[in-house]
Amino acid sequence: MLNPLSSKLPDIGGTIFAEMSALAQECQAINLGQGFPDYSPPDALIQAVVEAMAQGHNQYAPMAGLLQLRQAIASKVETQHGHAYSAESEITVTAGATEALMSSLLALVHPTDEVVLIDPAYDLYAPSISLAGGKAVRVPMRPPEKDDPSFRVDWNRVEAAITKNTRMLVLNFPHNPTGLILKTEDLDALEVLIRKHPVLLLSDEAYEHIVFDGQIHLSPVSRPLLAEHTVLVSSFGKTFHATGWKTGYCCAPHHVMREIRKVHQFTVFSVSTPMQAGISRYLRESDAVSGLPGFYQKKRDRLIAGLKNTPLRPLHAEGTFFLLVDASALDFKLEKELAIRLTHEIGVASIPVSAFYPDPGSSSANHHLLRLCFAKKDATLDEALERLEGLKAWLPG
Ligand SMILES: Cc1ncc(COP(=O)(O)O)c(C=O)c1O
Repeated sequence: MLNPLSSKLPDIGGTIFAEMSALAQECQAINLGQGFPDYSPPDALIQAVVEAMAQGHNQYAPMAGLLQLRQAIASKVETQHGHAYSAESEITVTAGATEALMSSLLALVHPTDEVVLIDPAYDLYAPSISLAGGKAVRVPMRPPEKDDPSFRVDWNRVEAAITKNTRMLVLNFPHNPTGLILKTEDLDALEVLIRKHPVLLLSDEAYEHIVFDGQIHLSPVSRPLLAEHTVLVSSFGKTFHATGWKTGYCCAPHHVMREIRKVHQFTVFSVSTPMQAGISRYLRESDAVSGLPGFYQKKRDRLIAGLKNTPLRPLHAEGTFFLLVDASALDFKLEKELAIRLTHEIGVASIPVSAFYPDPGSSSANHHLLRLCFAKKDATLDEALERLEGLKAWLPG
C-alpha cells in the first residue's frame, strides 16, 4: 500500500476563480468572476493560426519559441519601452504568463530565499514561491479610505520588508485586482529601492495593453537600471482575447533568462507551434494592440454607468479588465459570503477581493469589495447590470 502522502502545498485547495466559475455554471449565473472574455480573438489572428496549421507548422517549436515570434516580441517591447532584448538569448515564449511566472520563480528562488509580494496579490505567486522552497513576505497596499477611495502602494513599507534574504520583489501592474498602474513616481521609488537593495523584480504585465484615460503602461524595463533586474512577463491570452490558447512570454537579461530556460525546457519544453506562428504573423501584419485601451474603456464605462442603478459603488480603475465595487451598503461580513449569495440569488458571479490575501477570512482581507470582470459582450454586461439592480431589495431598512 502507498505510504501516506505529505502535501507540498497543504493549505492550497482549488483556486477561487475555478470555484466561482463552477458555481456560476451550477447557478446559471452570468460569470463576471474569472478573467476571460466571452467573445472571440480577432478573425485575422484565428485565420493566421489556421493557415499555420494547414501549412504544416504542427511539430515541436524550438525550446525558446519560434524565432520570428521572439523577434516580433523584441520589436514590440522596444517600441513600447525603449528597451532592446536579444530575441536569441533574452526572450522565451511560454505556456501563458502562468508558466513564465512559475518557471521564473522555480529557476530564481532558492530554499530560504524571501520573495516580497504586494497584497492583494494574484493567487499564483505564493504557492509557486513555496514550491521553490522560498518564503513569501507579504506587504499590504493601503486599502481604500473615505477620503481616498483607492488602493495605494507604500514603497517605504515595501522597502522595509526587504532583508538580506530577499531574492525578489514581485510586481503586477496593471494590477489585478485593483486596476492600479505604475506612474513615473512609482518607477522613481523603485529605482531608489533597487539602488539600495539590488534584488530581482518579477514584473507580471499580463494586462500591459489595457490602460485607460489616455495614460500609458510604464514597465520597469523602461528604466535601464530596473531592466537589469527585471523579468518581464506577459500574456497573449489576455491581449488577444484568447485565454484558452495559453501563450505568453518573458524577457530578461541573458544570464537570468539562461536559468529560466533550464526550467522551461523541462516543464513544457516548448509551446504550441501553430499558435506561435499565427501570433507572430498577426503581430507583424496588423496593428494588433492600439485599439485595446479604447475597446476596454468603453466596457468599463458601460459597467460604471449601469452600476449607478445598484447599491454597488465602483472604485476608480486605471487598467486591466477588472472593476472593483464597494458593497458596503449591503449587510454582510465576509466578501466571499456575499459573492456566493450574489451568484445564487442575483445570478451574477464575481470574485471576493479577500481571495487575494493570505488569510481570506481575516478582517484585514475584507474591505467590502468584489471584483467584476468586464471583458464581456455589451449584452452580457447589460444583463448582469439588470440583475444587479435586484440588489436594491437587499438594502437594510
Ligand atoms: C495577474 C495575472 N498574471 C498572470 C495570469 C495568467 O495569464 P495566462 O492566462 O497567460 O497564463 C493572470 C490570469 O488571470 C493574471 O491575472
